[in-house]
Amino acid sequence: MCGIIGIVGTKPVSERLIDSLKRLEYRGYDSAGIATIEDGRLDRRREAGKISGLEAVLAEHPLSGQTGIGHTRWATHGAPTTRNAHPHVAGRVAVVHNGIIENFAELKRELIAAGRVFESETDTEVVAQLIDAELNAGLSPLDAMKAALDRLEGAFAIAVLIKGDDDLIMGARRGPPLVVGYGDGEMYIGTDAMAVGPFTQRVAYLDEGDYVAIDHKGARIFDASGAPVERPVVTVPASAALVEKGNYRHFMEKEIHDQPDAVQHTLSSYIDPIAGVAGAPGGFDFAGIERLQIVACGTASYAGMIGRYLFERLAGLPCDVEFPSEFRYREPAVTAKTLAVGISQSGETADTLAALRWCKARGLQTAAVVNSHGSTMAREVDLFWPTNAGPEVAVASTKAFTAQVSALTALAIAAARQRGRIDAAEESRLVGILMEAPRLLAEAIFDEDVIHTLALDISRARDVLYFGRGAMYPLALEGALKLKEISYIHAEGYAAGELKHGPIALVDEQTPIIVIAPSDDLFDKTMSNMSEVIARGGRVIMITDADGAARAPETVRTIVAPTCDPLIAPLVLAVPIQLLAYHVAVQKGADVDQPRNLAKSVTVE
Ligand code: AGP
Repeated sequence: MCGIIGIVGTKPVSERLIDSLKRLEYRGYDSAGIATIEDGRLDRRREAGKISGLEAVLAEHPLSGQTGIGHTRWATHGAPTTRNAHPHVAGRVAVVHNGIIENFAELKRELIAAGRVFESETDTEVVAQLIDAELNAGLSPLDAMKAALDRLEGAFAIAVLIKGDDDLIMGARRGPPLVVGYGDGEMYIGTDAMAVGPFTQRVAYLDEGDYVAIDHKGARIFDASGAPVERPVVTVPASAALVEKGNYRHFMEKEIHDQPDAVQHTLSSYIDPIAGVAGAPGGFDFAGIERLQIVACGTASYAGMIGRYLFERLAGLPCDVEFPSEFRYREPAVTAKTLAVGISQSGETADTLAALRWCKARGLQTAAVVNSHGSTMAREVDLFWPTNAGPEVAVASTKAFTAQVSALTALAIAAARQRGRIDAAEESRLVGILMEAPRLLAEAIFDEDVIHTLALDISRARDVLYFGRGAMYPLALEGALKLKEISYIHAEGYAAGELKHGPIALVDEQTPIIVIAPSDDLFDKTMSNMSEVIARGGRVIMITDADGAARAPETVRTIVAPTCDPLIAPLVLAVPIQLLAYHVAVQKGADVDQPRNLAKSVTVE
């Protein structure tokens, strides 16, 4: 979850490295640093904390080199201090790294025994020490890189400078992504298209195990065996570079407001509103499988849980949803007729990638609902099912979530038709309902006043409970996650029917209870659960629609979402869930877009 950038430039690179790191800061912000080489010198500036701190250091002590690398860190090994900030330097070598070197302790012992002196607690420094040791043994930079890579175990992406080689940056990827950018007389290397986006839209994605040398002439790419390879140079959309907040206070606020477009653009890949039909992009016959196994983390897993209700109810297709970090280690019983489906905004989440690879190795077909189209997951699965939400920068996922739910809803309709559970007329009716989602999301977004008031009350709470039934249960889990990850208030989501089996013991006058209950066929059941809570002094806020609000007890405060068909209620009611968490976090003065301890893409296990 760190950000990497490198530029082999034709003019000083320091400011452009910082510009790129600012676009990568969502990947981690414990510390930042850059290094440049020039006239045989290797210079470095590093600072703990956000990039603004590094900018202040550079204002005092600027760097002038035309070739350099930069890094913004999410700490895995070693505290987030300046000493542990990247780039790490050993002799002639400077390295920036994203990922984990799993055998770093063993290599560090070996290198210390050989007389090498370490300055940091990080795993990364081992890479610089290894390459420098190989250079000292007389190897060329590329051979030294290859020799070091052959010793490393783990998942990593790295970029490397060599003092004295002013026209060279080397890189390697084994797990986390790395792209090469092609400029006009300049070359770039970075974590993703967004990193090099300010400089070029022409990129080549390194494959698993590739390593590369870039210079003013271009890129020499090698596969894991050391054989020269070509990787296609593609042109990415300008949006991959131009991610700005506009006039919003936070990226999260912007992305909540982006949701009508995000859902509209996503649905355009799955439904034909004129013909009234739904289908997987590129086609897929759900009648040919017996079961879906969804693997996803965090918010993406809750989208998957909503999808499960729809695949089973509409299509009669058995569907399981599991955290990949559990799934892949428990030897699950899967059959060749199981379709493994990953759901991921980043397409780089290590746990989800590993679970999909586990399934692929056992002969299962794999699919993925992914927002980052050039990502590893999008390129590795058999079936790439895009969400088209555009770049999502805020660590707390919002528009990617509703885009995921809309894609899964369309796929469930397609599966129902293909498995003979609905006829063409019913398919067309359901597609028509789904097409209403963008408008209803827009209506839900602009009803913020009530939420703003309630947020003040919740911002003072120590614990908050969310509950719902049916597809509102995953939404309760998502609401709790949103609140805790950006406001740091402890929150739990429960299935409403489960409250009386223990969690109701948590209810007292201090605990806000968020009940998610549109006026659907489970409304009355949820109202009974809500009465149990009210009887024990719980302070209830109900997220519902107009009918639900009319039937709510006097003591209950309501957030009224637009009335909608149950098929799209998870989409429409996601908005008040997100806005509530957002306004609570703003009330608390929290770092909304970059909450503590988190990163946007968890590329380590
Ligand atoms: C969501 O708000 C969180 N930031 C987190 O749970 C996230 O959904 C999870 O890490 C999965 O990320 P992915 O969608 O990129 O795979």
